[in-house]
Amino acid sequence: MSGPTSDLFAEDALQQPIGREQIGEQSYVLRGYALPWIERLLPELRHVLAQAPFRQMVTPGGFTMSAALTSCGELGWTTDASGYRYSHLDPRSQQPWPALPDALRELAVQAAADAGFADFAPDACLINRYVPGAKMSLHQDKNERDYGAPVVSVSLGLPAIFLFGGHARSDKPQKISLFHGDVVVWGGVDRLRFHGVMPIKEGVHPVMGPQRINLTLRTAG
Ligand code: SIN
Ligand code: FE2
Repeated sequence: MSGPTSDLFAEDALQQPIGREQIGEQSYVLRGYALPWIERLLPELRHVLAQAPFRQMVTPGGFTMSAALTSCGELGWTTDASGYRYSHLDPRSQQPWPALPDALRELAVQAAADAGFADFAPDACLINRYVPGAKMSLHQDKNERDYGAPVVSVSLGLPAIFLFGGHARSDKPQKISLFHGDVVVWGGVDRLRFHGVMPIKEGVHPVMGPQRINLTLRTAG
């Protein structure tokens, strides 16, 4: 499919912008990037969730996170009273986390390369589920051993306002709307920037239902 008419039509059907938006020196939003993978991605995601269901986690400070979490890959991220960390076993099942699915890995590696990070080798994927009202406070992703690798974040379902801050918690964050299929990549000099998600608005997504699911891939170990 090519030509101005069909391109315009495709953009209209998606009701969201297409292309690459730079949001930091080494950070990009890749609009709609995951859409061609969705048909492979969703069965993989269902398979992961059957083995490692979403659960509410409690922060070291004693707060229950409003987003429900799980993981796949060699390492999974957990939090409890004793702190944040990566572990090889799912504390709920005492089994290894489900393997990182093929399509998800391919998507992440390709997105990282398109954002300027060749040879991305993710070994961990955090999966967050937001129902309307759920949010993620500003934080840095800093439990990984090597900050040389970027974070690749895939958004599915309900839209979100992503907060992309600076290197200090007090830096005023950019507000970036993220839609189903958008991928954000941040790394290099931007790797430790604060980020978060504003409370998700009420809604029902035609494919994902009344929720937003976010997948963040990292090199953790
Ligand atoms: C996160 O930083 O862990 C999640 C970001 C998002 O949900 O977009
Ligand atoms: Fe994060």
